[in-house]
Amino acid sequence: MINFKKLSNKYDTPLYVYNFDEITKNYNELKNAFKARKSMLCYAVKANSNLSVLKHLAKLGSGCDCVSIGEVKRALLAGVDKYKIIFSGVGKKDSEIREALQKDILMLNLESEEEMLRVEKIAKELDKNARISIRVNPDIDPKTHPYISTGLHENKFGVDIDTAKKMYLYANKSKNLTPIGIHYHIGSQIVKALPFKEAALVMGNLLRSLKAANIDIKFFDIGGGVGIKYKDEITISLYDYAQNIFEALKNEDVTIVCEPGRYMVGNCGYLLTKVLYEKANDKKRFVIVDAGMNDLVRPSLYQAYHDFEVIGANDDEKSLADIVGPICESGDFLAKDRQMPKTKHDDLIVIKSAGAYGFTMSSNYNTRCKVAEIALEDGKDRLIRRRENFEDLIELEKEYI
Ligand code: LLP
Repeated sequence: MINFKKLSNKYDTPLYVYNFDEITKNYNELKNAFKARKSMLCYAVKANSNLSVLKHLAKLGSGCDCVSIGEVKRALLAGVDKYKIIFSGVGKKDSEIREALQKDILMLNLESEEEMLRVEKIAKELDKNARISIRVNPDIDPKTHPYISTGLHENKFGVDIDTAKKMYLYANKSKNLTPIGIHYHIGSQIVKALPFKEAALVMGNLLRSLKAANIDIKFFDIGGGVGIKYKDEITISLYDYAQNIFEALKNEDVTIVCEPGRYMVGNCGYLLTKVLYEKANDKKRFVIVDAGMNDLVRPSLYQAYHDFEVIGANDDEKSLADIVGPICESGDFLAKDRQMPKTKHDDLIVIKSAGAYGFTMSSNYNTRCKVAEIALEDGKDRLIRRRENFEDLIELEKEYI
């Protein structure tokens, strides 16, 4: 049991708390599911990019999936092996491509023909050979929230299969490109096994046709997307998830790359917030807290459900309420129309499943400071990002005033 009260007294609120022992457990469980084959877990940095989180995963042997040169640099700084770093993303700038090639990471994951030509040009200028994979959009519906579905042709990600084949043939002949991987990612928070299975079959067939054309694909990157339990979701079995991939790959000799983000950190994280006030009118009861959409935007952006607990509350007197933040937006809520006990000033509320896409999507909107982050490991707590202060916020502006 985590003593949230003690942590909130020690570090103040709002506060992000991550249980590193749980991250270890998740890493090992997923790695274990793939143990019958060569595999590499490349954690999706965007889910939670705190350097200490990355260092913890690096020590477990994890690689990283990055979507900006900033994320690549974080991963390297945290001690991730450069040959376990993949750089994806639909819009890489020339400077990002150049730096990634100079840093000699495992591969760049390309998302368009034009990008491939740019990478080839930049690699030529640097007299380098760019190891690449191509992100294929297999046009499969992951049955998740439309904003986090990525593997349909209406989504901006990747290229269709025919374009991918053309690109592989081109890259295979280029002096400055070496295709070594094949990549897809159909979406996030997926709780059904079927879309993963369908995508793997389509992509397994593509792999075979590329190998038949003498393209030496070494990495079969299945992306991330494994969903977690926020409310009452029945999540997929990792064993079945891996078996479906094995089935699609039959005897193909490739390293399976998996890019979990949410699965790895989502349920390991909590956002601690304190009640400021309560108020009600004829329609609604509002519990106003010190964390807002600037700290955790998922409820506002995706109508995402996060479970919560009011510490030490008397559960008998519950009624419907919204938990809202201090931001000047009606969309600023952490929970909507939920049964809640009566609260009073300084009561502690723990928002659960906040470890993924929580802090990384936070902002300074309304000139609010980003909150502190702490790690729990082996029964000890430690600060892994100090709370921002007003000076931090004006640092880049004050000299121009
Ligand atoms: N690989 C690629 C290429 C991705 O685009 C993503 C996530 C992942 C891996 C990791 O997916 P995961 O295992 O976390 O599902 N902000 C949204 C989620 C956006 C996901 C974007 N891509 C949310 O809060 O639900």
